Amino acid sequence: MAIRLIVKEPDEVLHKIAKAVAKITPNVQKLLDDMADTMYDAEGVGLAAPQVGILKRLIVVDADEEHGLIKMINPEIIQSEGEQFGPEGCLSIPGINGDVRRAETVTVRGLDREGNEITITGSGLLARAFQHEIDHLNGVLFTDIAEKVYEINAERSQTGSE
Ligand code: NI
Repeated sequence: MAIRLIVKEPDEVLHKIAKAVAKITPNVQKLLDDMADTMYDAEGVGLAAPQVGILKRLIVVDADEEHGLIKMINPEIIQSEGEQFGPEGCLSIPGINGDVRRAETVTVRGLDREGNEITITGSGLLARAFQHEIDHLNGVLFTDIAEKVYEINAERSQTGSE
């Protein structure tokens, strides 16, 4: 178990496009494990590799009880449906939330930690987390697409940061 440092805005790594993982090595698996530890330590619901300074297409999310922790390599949204609009935060942009329009349901395809192809369909917060994390792999932050961005009260508990 290792907790990595979360990169914060305005670090330029957050604005770059991450590279697909060509080969699943022990280093890649360790990075996924560390990302999960880092996400839980920060009480987030998702984390993408660029947020720990590494431009590889890796994400972790844990946004609902049905699916629990998901570690995914080279994730791609292959289907989107419906719409949700609501507040979103990011572990790389502390103290700021924004109202972001997202698909209500997405189907994501990628590889699991062992390299098996997996396809997961999620709605609500899980769908929002998938879209948020995959945006990170493309150098896109929620503040780039939010309809309104605002500071949040530090005393109010912050939920759903990715
Ligand atoms: Ni984020």
